[in-house]
Amino acid sequence: MDFNLTEEHIMIRDAARDFAQTELLPGVIERDNKQEFPKEQIKKMGELGFLGMMVDPKYGGSGLDTISYMLAMEEISKIDASASVVMSVNNSLVCWGLEHYANEDQKQKYLKPLASGTKLGAFCLSEPEAGSDATSQKTTAIEHDDYYLLNGTKNWITNGSTADFYIVIAQTHIDKAHKGINAFIVEKGWKGFDVGPKEDKLGIRGSDTHSLQFNDVKIPKENRIGDDGFGFKFAMKTLAGGRIGIACQALGIASGAYELALKYSKQRKTFGTEICNHQAIAFKLADMATQIEAARHLCMKAAWDKDQKKDYTISGAMAKLYASKVAMDTTVEAVQIHGGNGFVKDYHVERLMRDAKITQIYEGTSEIQKIVISRSIIDA
Ligand code: CAA
Ligand code: FAD
Repeated sequence: MDFNLTEEHIMIRDAARDFAQTELLPGVIERDNKQEFPKEQIKKMGELGFLGMMVDPKYGGSGLDTISYMLAMEEISKIDASASVVMSVNNSLVCWGLEHYANEDQKQKYLKPLASGTKLGAFCLSEPEAGSDATSQKTTAIEHDDYYLLNGTKNWITNGSTADFYIVIAQTHIDKAHKGINAFIVEKGWKGFDVGPKEDKLGIRGSDTHSLQFNDVKIPKENRIGDDGFGFKFAMKTLAGGRIGIACQALGIASGAYELALKYSKQRKTFGTEICNHQAIAFKLADMATQIEAARHLCMKAAWDKDQKKDYTISGAMAKLYASKVAMDTTVEAVQIHGGNGFVKDYHVERLMRDAKITQIYEGTSEIQKIVISRSIIDA
């Protein structure tokens, strides 16, 4: 594995860094306070190619590798994790699945606008009774002549009200358990499709999370993705890559908090010296830097596996498990290094600490990552 970034990687990282500084940083505290979706900023991210980074240009994407995506995710997440979850969902959970498993008509109709950023996507797997236990789908899509009839509720859907197209996982053959699950493309505005109220969240408050209700929504048969019964495998394969995106989000949150803490510790003086000269603070910085470096290597390994067409299910799960813990630990320490200032909003670290928590919950909790990793170790 080559640790050197190419010129193109550096260019993409710097472009994402510039965008985050100039477009996301102003207003990030206000958006968090008001739970305001970064609408204009997401539009610009689409125009710059950040919403379909790995998609083939013939389908409106930027045609880049996963390392490029990783670098951009880290830079955007350092400043605004609400914007980066929108980016992660559209890239990894929506565009990736469509590019790999949708048919040509579906790609032309749905992938092109999603990858070019003119439309936004959502991925709908979780339900009130099927979060970690994802095979327990209660939403049904029952086959009729030329359509499926969709009924049920999805919970916690990112881009819930802002998306245009939704990938919805549903049970089509109840007697076949997970082998009777399918994935469908559902459009906003279809009769019987309702969006519930916005969730009032601890972190990533700028992202919009909603439950969705489907009451006799007619899905044309041509909107099923892949062969009959492929839906659960489709979701699992999609999430394997999605977890790399969230690992990089966690890495970005951690490195953002670390950079702020380092800077602050060189400015703030107590007992006649900058606080970084107190060993207790210096050692915190050393731990943070080491853990972030280790998390970055795991993220790079997973991204590299994916780019090399190797299996990345386990390296992605490891990256997410570890980077999300580093995000949590680092942001708590960054608040501590800021003292009282860490507890107020102007210094950003309290927001990063609140944002960090979700990386241990969504796209498979840390306990679920341990199930995935431990099964692979034991079954090897
Ligand atoms: N790739 C392909 N197929 C896979 C797979 C993978 N990575 N993982 C599992 N499968 C297949 C299995 O092979 C099996 O199929 P067969 O019977 O044909 O062999 C089938 O899926 C069921 O697998 P398991 O028996 O392992 O199922 P399980 O009930 O034990 O659950 C689990 C496995 C890993 C715990 C899974 O339920 C899971 O990942 N849960 C977490 C769900 C999750 O991550 N949700 C995230 C929602 S999206 C989100 O959160 C977005 C956001 O926030 C922004
Ligand atoms: P549960 O599954 O009820 O888990 C509760 C606790 O029990 C957790 O600590 C869990 O790790 C633990 N646990 C459960 N089973 C086991 C086990 N077998 N062994 C050990 N521990 C276990 N979902 C989507 O489909 N699309 C989205 O866009 C999306 N966005 C989200 C955005 C936000 C802000 C949030 C909060 C959630 C989002 N989710 C989304 C849902 C998310 O993926 C689930 O919340 C997550 O998978 C956990 O499911 P749950 O909340 O039902 O918790």
